[in-house]
Amino acid sequence: MKTIIGNFKMNTTVHEFANYLDEFLPKVKDCKNKIVLCVPYTHLAKAEQKLSLTNVAYGAQNISNEEKGACTGEISNLMVKDLGASYTLLGHSEIRKRFKESNEIVNQKIIRALGVNLKAIVCVGETLTERNAKKTKLVLKKQIEIALKGLYENELKNIIIAYEPMWAIGTGKVPTSKEIEQAIKDVREIIAENFSTKSADKICVLYGGSINQDNCYNVLKIKGVNGLLVGGACLNAVSFASICCN
Ligand code: PGA
Repeated sequence: MKTIIGNFKMNTTVHEFANYLDEFLPKVKDCKNKIVLCVPYTHLAKAEQKLSLTNVAYGAQNISNEEKGACTGEISNLMVKDLGASYTLLGHSEIRKRFKESNEIVNQKIIRALGVNLKAIVCVGETLTERNAKKTKLVLKKQIEIALKGLYENELKNIIIAYEPMWAIGTGKVPTSKEIEQAIKDVREIIAENFSTKSADKICVLYGGSINQDNCYNVLKIKGVNGLLVGGACLNAVSFASICCN
């Protein structure tokens, strides 16, 4: 069973999302894969209403690193959990870039997520410059080691690592199968070094970046890939359903 996660980013109104679900849910109801929709905060109540009794889970795209209080514009772990979400994306490259989010902040957010029993989908990945300088593993090591600092090994069951090379997000560019396989192997080696080989084998590792209906099948076949994180291509209910039921 693979895990297929859709990241809506800042797209759709609640009304459009409800229509999307009406089209999407019947198409995926017999799918064997685990399906998760990470929706805008404004859509969480609708998700709770329409997804609670289905095979589709849902989550937020971020949470605050603070518990509550003077953080205008932010959303807390508990607020997301309260609307029935079971996942949250964390450390997405668009947030790292736009808000200069550090690995330390990602670590604080992961701890907040686990604190209320939200599974954390932790996004990591190198820039094009880092890739060309052959620094991918070094970057992944730093991102993962700091993000998972202080976690107990048994908490890794609530962590999903999404390997998303920054240069592949929304660009139509996808690394070669060999490159993806190597990066996913790197992720598992880093987990093995910091926790154990048993955890490294068990942890769920996804690939994300320019996945679509045509390339998903080949990426899912790559050794070590447990699933996909899909941005743009999840916005079309028909093609995302076909990716989910692959
Ligand atoms: P993309 O986005 O599929 O549109 O490249 C992936 C992501 O940002 O998670």
